[in-house]
Amino acid sequence: MTPTPQPTHRIATLTLNPALDLTVRADGWRQGEVNIGQSLHWDAGGKGVNVAAFLTDWGLPVTATGLLGDQNPERFETLFRTKGIRDDFVRVSGATRVGVKLVDGAAQETTDINLPGLAATPEALQALEARLDRLTADHSVFVLAGSLPPGVAPDFYARLIARLRAAGCFVALDTSGAALQAALAADVLPDLVKPNIHELEAALGRPLGSEVEVLEAARELLRRGAGWVAVSQGERGALLVTEEEAVRARPPRVAVKSTVGAGDAMVAGLLSAHLDGLNLMDAARRATAFSLAAITRLGAHLPSQAELEEFARQVAVEPVAQVETA
Ligand SMILES: Nc1ncnc2c1ncn2[C@@H]1O[C@H](COP(=O)(O)OP(=O)(O)OP(=O)(O)O)[C@@H](O)[C@H]1O
Ligand SMILES: [Mg+2]
Repeated sequence: MTPTPQPTHRIATLTLNPALDLTVRADGWRQGEVNIGQSLHWDAGGKGVNVAAFLTDWGLPVTATGLLGDQNPERFETLFRTKGIRDDFVRVSGATRVGVKLVDGAAQETTDINLPGLAATPEALQALEARLDRLTADHSVFVLAGSLPPGVAPDFYARLIARLRAAGCFVALDTSGAALQAALAADVLPDLVKPNIHELEAALGRPLGSEVEVLEAARELLRRGAGWVAVSQGERGALLVTEEEAVRARPPRVAVKSTVGAGDAMVAGLLSAHLDGLNLMDAARRATAFSLAAITRLGAHLPSQAELEEFARQVAVEPVAQVETA
C-alpha cells in the first residue's frame, strides 16, 4: 500500500451540513450544579470534510465544498490549511451547527446537545450548484456525503448525481434517510454507494437479516445502475459487491478510541482503491484498513504507511458465493 504517486484525478467532496463539535470533559458532573471541567476540544467535521481529510492524508489532491456559516468558519479554515485541502465552501450568513458533547470520563457517559444549524436558502443552493458545475471542469471524482440541512429537498443528491454523471464524473454517495432513498430510487444511481446496514434497510424499507439478503439488496442497486455497493456493518466488517463479484472483509478486534468517522474512512479508502485500479479484494482490504486507522485514533487522520499496511494485513477478505437473482 503506497500513496498514489502522480495523482491525475482531482477529487471534490461535498458537505451540505458540516458540524462543529465541542467536547467538554467534566468527570462526575451533575445537572443543575456548578461543575469543574478538565478539558475542552473543538473538532470541525461533517462526513465530506472527514473524507477530504483522510484522502489528503493519503496524498491525493482534494477540494472541499458545501455550505459553511460565516460566523464560525475559523476551525474549518485551520483544518483545511493544516491538511492542505482546497477550501471551496460557499459562505452563507449564520453559524454552522454546533454539537456539544459533555463527557463524564469517570461514569463513561456522554451527553449530547445538538444545536440547530443553518437552513439553506435558495440563493445559497444556487451559488453552490454554480460552484459544483465549475468544479466539474477540473475534478473527475465527486463524493456527496452526509445529511441535508433544512431547506434542501430530499432529491437534491439524486438530481446532482444525474448531473455529475452526465458530465462524465465518478460519483460516490454516503448518506441516509430520505436523501438515500431518493438517490437509490432515481433513474441514475451513483458509481459507488456506501450505506451502513441500517441505512440500507431504511432506504429499501425491509430488514436485511442475513448475508444473502444484504447481497440481494446490493445486487438490486447494481441492476438499477450503481457501479459498486459497499455495505458496512460496524465491527462485523463490510460486504463489497460489483456486477462481477462480491467480497466480505472482516476487521480484527482492535482497541477502539472512537467509531466516529469509521464509515467516512471507508469511503476514502474505497476511492483511493478505485483511483489506483485495485481489484475488489484489495479494495476491501484497503478500505477496512482506513476504517481501522480511523477508529483507533481521535479525529480524521491516517497513520503512517507502515501502520496502515499492518492493519491491511490483519483484515480477513474472502469471496462470497454469488446468489442467483431474477
Ligand atoms: N468496533 C469496530 N471494530 C472493528 N472495526 C470496526 C468497528 N466499527 C467499525 N469498524 C470498521 O469500520 C467500517 C465502517 O464502519 P460502520 O459500518 O460503523 O460505518 P458507518 O456506520 O457508516 O460509520 P460513520 O459513523 O462514519 O457513518 C466497518 O466495515 C469496519 O471495517
Ligand atoms: Mg456512515
